[in-house]
Amino acid sequence: MTLWGGRFSVTMDETLWNLSESYSFDYVLYEHDLRGSSAHVRGLAAVGLLSEIESATLLATLEEIREEFESGSFVRAPGDEDIHTAIERRATELAGDVGAKLHTGRSRNDQVATTLRLFSRDALGEIARAGLSLVGVLLEIGDKNAKAYLPGYTHLQRAQPVLLSHHLNAHAFALLRDVDRLLDARDRLNVSPLGAGALAGTSLALDPTVAAAILGFDAPFANSMDAVSDRDFVAETLFDVALMGVHLSRMGEELVLWTSAEFNFASLGDDFTTGSSMLPQKKNSDVAELARGKSGRLIGNLTGLLVVLKGLPLSYNRDLQEDKEPLFDSIRQILLVLRALSGAYRSMTFHDDVAKAAADDQFLVAIDLAEELVAEGVPFRQAHEKVGKLVAQAVASNRPLRDVVAATPDVQRFNHLFDDGVALRRRRSPGASGPSASAEQAQRLRLEVEAASERV
Ligand code: ARG
Repeated sequence: MTLWGGRFSVTMDETLWNLSESYSFDYVLYEHDLRGSSAHVRGLAAVGLLSEIESATLLATLEEIREEFESGSFVRAPGDEDIHTAIERRATELAGDVGAKLHTGRSRNDQVATTLRLFSRDALGEIARAGLSLVGVLLEIGDKNAKAYLPGYTHLQRAQPVLLSHHLNAHAFALLRDVDRLLDARDRLNVSPLGAGALAGTSLALDPTVAAAILGFDAPFANSMDAVSDRDFVAETLFDVALMGVHLSRMGEELVLWTSAEFNFASLGDDFTTGSSMLPQKKNSDVAELARGKSGRLIGNLTGLLVVLKGLPLSYNRDLQEDKEPLFDSIRQILLVLRALSGAYRSMTFHDDVAKAAADDQFLVAIDLAEELVAEGVPFRQAHEKVGKLVAQAVASNRPLRDVVAATPDVQRFNHLFDDGVALRRRRSPGASGPSASAEQAQRLRLEVEAASERV
């Protein structure tokens, strides 16, 4: 038996039921639906639509239902189409006529929008927290390997030496922007749709500000039609998660490279790698590959929802039920990736010696030679040309650049630039990759992490 049985003479066809039921996936909203329902009860009581005793009975009933869910004893009835109908049906079973007053002045349209906002608000905080933990891990690794450096790449060609901490901080800044975006989205979604009814509000004396305040929303909706049809907060969450997923994917790709025999800059702990069912020697960085791979479905979830939304007339349309699975999936997947990747980084051993050998590649000093000439007044374009010729000579004669410089009278004096680590220490402009500039960034990151942690 459905909740709208009065209007219908035959029961719903099974194929339609299978298509339209959402309990099988939206039961995860039970806690948020109960919270919204309790606030609704208190809102009804505040304007006299429920007596003191009725509201107390209903609140206790909702509490009982919560316990049923938490203990696993809640049983879905055959007509429970979604979590909202299931809870209302159970409330009526437990509290009789008083239970039948629960839905007064409310539609599932404002109810589901309220529930989903509450759910998303919690989820955004949880993802932000997991993101901040990963930033913390990156900072820790930089601290632990304070002297480690590696080649920085452009076009995946060695370009200039960078400190490991500087390199990891680059990822950390991107993740902090992600966290910021998640928290911005959380601020923006904090509007209560409860009281919008099906689409046009209600003739009853309900005051939407009551439930809004109880639920910790900043304000109730301004327009009832917008309230029930707006899923911007889902789209924003999916975008923020997708972009974060793209960042994690790039980090994953980097770990795949670093842990390959060809780079060998790092290895992951045995507890964060997998073996091969056939090749006994294999130690695979599946965690990094999955971080990379998951971004595909996160992007898919976002585009899928945008397509669902794009043709919808006002206000509520059942298509909107398609907002849930992508949202649940993206939240679940991003948390899985954030947590596993944090562990993987924590388990990582950075191979200083290998990375250092690669970063001490003499060609990475070419720009320093040119900049020394610039410091002496040579126009940069001429300095570039001159050093380019030295590089070409080294390549053609298969000699180290240092030897060519040593043998070239007008640049010999710059030979010390080739000493280990010198090029790195010279990168001291603001935001640069040398030790002093990097330390400043780490300091700034820590302050930003602290500020974001407070906001979460
Ligand atoms: N399960 C539905 C959803 O997720 C609830 C709203 C149903 N409203 C309706 N008028 N059929 O969107």
